[in-house]
Amino acid sequence: MTLWSLLLFSGIFVCALFPLTNCDEQRIPEEKLLVLTVATKETDGFRRFLRSAKHFNYTVKVLGRGEKWRGGDYMSAPGGGQKVRLLKVAVEEMKNEDNIILFIDSYDVVFASGPKELLKKFQQARHKVVFSSESLIWPDRHLEDKHPHVREGNRFLGSGGFIGYVPNIKELVSDWTGEDDDSDQLFFTKIYIDPAKRKSINITLDSKCRLFQNLHGALDEVVLKFENGRVRARNVLYDTLPVIIHGNGPTKLQINYLGNYIPNTWTFETGCTVCHEDLRPLTALKESEYPLVVIGIFIQQPTPFVTVFFERLLKLQYPKNRLKLFIYNQEVHHERQVNAFLQDHGSLYQDVRFIGPEEDIDGAASRNLGFDMCRKDKDCDYFFSLDIEVVLKNENTLKILIEQNLPIVAPMITRAGRLWSNFWGALSADGYYARSEDYVDVVQGRRAGVWNVPYVSSVYLVKASLLRSELTDYELFTSPILDPDMTYCHNVRNKGIFMYVTNMHSFGRILSTENYQTSHLHNDLWQIFENRVDWEERYIHENYTLIMKDKLIETPCPDVYWFPVFSDIACDHLVEEMEHFGKWSGGGNVDKRIQGGYENVPTIDIHMNQINFEKEWQKFLLEYVSPITEKMYPGYYTRAQFELAFVVRYKPDEQPSLRPHHDASTFTINIALNHVGLDFQGGGCRFLRYDCSIQAPRKGWALMHPGRLTHYHEGLPTTAGVRYIAVSFVDP
Ligand SMILES: *[C@@H]1O[C@H](CO)[C@@H](O)[C@H](O)[C@H]1NC(C)=O
Ligand SMILES: *[C@@H]1O[C@H](CO)[C@@H](O)[C@H](O)[C@H]1NC(C)=O
Ligand SMILES: *[C@@H]1O[C@H](CO)[C@@H](O)[C@H](O)[C@H]1NC(C)=O
Repeated sequence: MTLWSLLLFSGIFVCALFPLTNCDEQRIPEEKLLVLTVATKETDGFRRFLRSAKHFNYTVKVLGRGEKWRGGDYMSAPGGGQKVRLLKVAVEEMKNEDNIILFIDSYDVVFASGPKELLKKFQQARHKVVFSSESLIWPDRHLEDKHPHVREGNRFLGSGGFIGYVPNIKELVSDWTGEDDDSDQLFFTKIYIDPAKRKSINITLDSKCRLFQNLHGALDEVVLKFENGRVRARNVLYDTLPVIIHGNGPTKLQINYLGNYIPNTWTFETGCTVCHEDLRPLTALKESEYPLVVIGIFIQQPTPFVTVFFERLLKLQYPKNRLKLFIYNQEVHHERQVNAFLQDHGSLYQDVRFIGPEEDIDGAASRNLGFDMCRKDKDCDYFFSLDIEVVLKNENTLKILIEQNLPIVAPMITRAGRLWSNFWGALSADGYYARSEDYVDVVQGRRAGVWNVPYVSSVYLVKASLLRSELTDYELFTSPILDPDMTYCHNVRNKGIFMYVTNMHSFGRILSTENYQTSHLHNDLWQIFENRVDWEERYIHENYTLIMKDKLIETPCPDVYWFPVFSDIACDHLVEEMEHFGKWSGGGNVDKRIQGGYENVPTIDIHMNQINFEKEWQKFLLEYVSPITEKMYPGYYTRAQFELAFVVRYKPDEQPSLRPHHDASTFTINIALNHVGLDFQGGGCRFLRYDCSIQAPRKGWALMHPGRLTHYHEGLPTTAGVRYIAVSFVDP
């Protein structure tokens, strides 16, 4: 860059150096600038435009409000003539000759900086009218040769944005006599390529995108620069910072993406631009005034922890008389759980509509129906779509989403420890998943905000007013090719409705429904591999994690350790599973322990492998018992191998006790599965060498003791009721 061009770059500099030559040019006051845009409808894109304009203090005048749009469909055919007609009328009324007009599209435009910077760059362009530029010629390719060459940058005119003095703009549009669906771009292009008109109106192109960035054909040139916790879009080809970003043509989704960060109010401290806008605190309302929400619950495949899902639904913080339920269950397998919930709690809700498997409707149809329940219900304010595999840990989720006041908003949920979530950051060319640049940062919470995204699923809130305006099509979810959720999002995007996902709070996770066995009574017990976090929450004793820290491990007899490990529900499920299986080994059977050459002390039992639970049981021992073993028997390391693990049943009239014996193990784990006093009388364990007994076994607590040599022991008689214990001989 020469010194001269450097100086030219900054009008102020030039003025300072040559005060008597070039300095008729003062900084244009911001009040001189008026933004004109045509918006016949208030789309979400338009609202975003206004938000960004307001943020930078632009003065905006909207033309064509409420008028019917006849300007054609931007995506396919040329069009836009209606905009020129409206502009022509508007400027004809304008008197003030030194005013400046920025005429700009709005549905797919955001401001990245304020009027001051825009006007400065306009002045530096040294023309009376500056048009945005494009690298692609459209709509008439034959006009290419007529375009003047530019030294650097884009050669073609873009009609989506231009700025100029009122008289020049008047001249620009004065010849317009076209139809509303004629091409505005072609009209302006013809003026621009006419040397006489170009000169008289004094038009130039913003070839290097200093003012306007059209994204079509330029996606590779535009990057987000994160600096000092702030963001700005930069054109890296021309090294410019455009003031206005336009997602023209097929770049609608990219402008949505960039719009998450620009205007550059997005910061790492507060999250994105829409987070705190228009918030409607529910706390100001009486419970009876809360918006009415229809919660649509969809059960479309066998899913673990359905009972827990309903327990959480019950705990959702929202007045139940302001909730209606629409439950669709396609699975016979889950009827028991749904019915139990409805029987016990259904009457708490204002209304319940239930559709069972016998009605034989498919996933898409059920969702169409659920949405329609809200659409047709004049009291319905929101539809909250909630799939059964969603684990909504945050009890305030519904309130938080309503307070966002957004058309469609999903709480971000992820699969525990994975990058899998309920939103897509980007879309591939054929409409499937694509990973956005920021996807990992958002999923892992390094960037928090409320994000405009092309796809949400599994759990989201929809404003009922949308269902009665833009989304009246009953078959929103139906498509011969696409999945229902993809079809729905496709339809929403096509209507120009924004979908958001928020990760401003932690909301919960989504279960894996893969490898879910349905052949058992309590199939959830088998979920230790597939859904470990949920398995642990359900089945591991609530104080288990405290035992290391707070020395909750008791030592009732020498080298015998006693600690909580199973929840009540784990104990109940294991016992019920065994009773359901029912093949207790009788006293006459040869106990398997004989085969190992150890002592023959047969019990009435069912082995873990008889119910195909041995892999899961070993995983349990490895994850929850081994750490304690290693702590209490220092230097001993175990992979928790076992040959024998079984549930024993003691009954006064069956087998009340067990005579003294050694175990065929290095150490033994003995977990009490029910309550002394409540479920049975008596029971316990006595270590003969120490003459020490544990006589009040605690449900869910494990006794851990060495197997051979020192810990010769007996099972004390159960005198009433039935007692169950789970025994494992570890490292035989
Ligand atoms: C917009 O104007 C307000 C009040 O006039 C001012 O406080 C604010 O800083 C301005 N915003 C910008 C981005 O210049
Ligand atoms: C356009 O106007 C500027 C003054 O603003 C002038 O310097 C320039 O020569 C004009 N260009 C043409 C092509 O008329
Ligand atoms: C866990 O520990 C706390 C504090 O000692 C106790 O109050 C609570 O009952 C324990 N929970 C269970 C399920 O035993």
